[in-house]
Amino acid sequence: MTTRQKFIAGNWKMNGSLQANAALLKAITQGLREQPPACKVAVAVPMPYLAQVQALLAGSSVQLGAQDVSQHEAGAYTGETSAAMLADLGVRYGLVGHSERRQYHGETDAVVATKAQRLLAAGITPIVCVGETLAEREAGQTGTVVARQLAAVAEALGQQIEKIVLAYEPVWAIGTGRTATPEQAQQVHAALRAQLASAAPGGAMVPVLYGGSMNAANAADLLAQSDIDGGLIGGAALKAPDFLKIIGAAQA
Ligand code: 13P
Repeated sequence: MTTRQKFIAGNWKMNGSLQANAALLKAITQGLREQPPACKVAVAVPMPYLAQVQALLAGSSVQLGAQDVSQHEAGAYTGETSAAMLADLGVRYGLVGHSERRQYHGETDAVVATKAQRLLAAGITPIVCVGETLAEREAGQTGTVVARQLAAVAEALGQQIEKIVLAYEPVWAIGTGRTATPEQAQQVHAALRAQLASAAPGGAMVPVLYGGSMNAANAADLLAQSDIDGGLIGGAALKAPDFLKIIGAAQA
């Protein structure tokens, strides 16, 4: 019925070192050479390691990702990294709107939308993250919150919305070991897909990933849901055997 290829992306967050990255990627790329993946694979790494990881991933099936991008194009923005700089380093995917950026860095829906535009203009696929807090879920607001977050990006991008990857990451499931059940996730994913389908002709084909305590043990059940097209993996992406197991669970 669907031909959406599964996609597993690791988000390293603020973890790693030159030495640890080299060891982790050696194990991952070796594992994938022995057992070629049936899905797309990417790792979103800290900015200082983009060049190192670009070199380590050369010739492998793993794509390079960044965890953020500046909302500005260029110029006097100390500490920021532009989309053009990311493109220069071979970055193919960029996270925008991760809940840790929304929560700790005050990123609004409008800022997230601008960042997605910057990435697309540089030829990089934005992985747009949406998700509700525990309080919002308990108040029955999950649907309205994620719809609002997606609508802000859809409004800014217009038909280009079909070029993004979307990630549903319930805030209460991130780093907590408390995963959404496959049914809980599927329900939100189906609503997000319907919203994407009505936003652009190709909207229904946008990959919708799940993130939040996804691990080697629960990945297969989550990935078996009809509207879960892959995973955005935090903690488990830092352990090669776990990340490889999750990739193995993602059949086309
Ligand atoms: P965990 O897998 O550590 O819960 O993190 C999920 C996440 O935030 C990925 O972006």
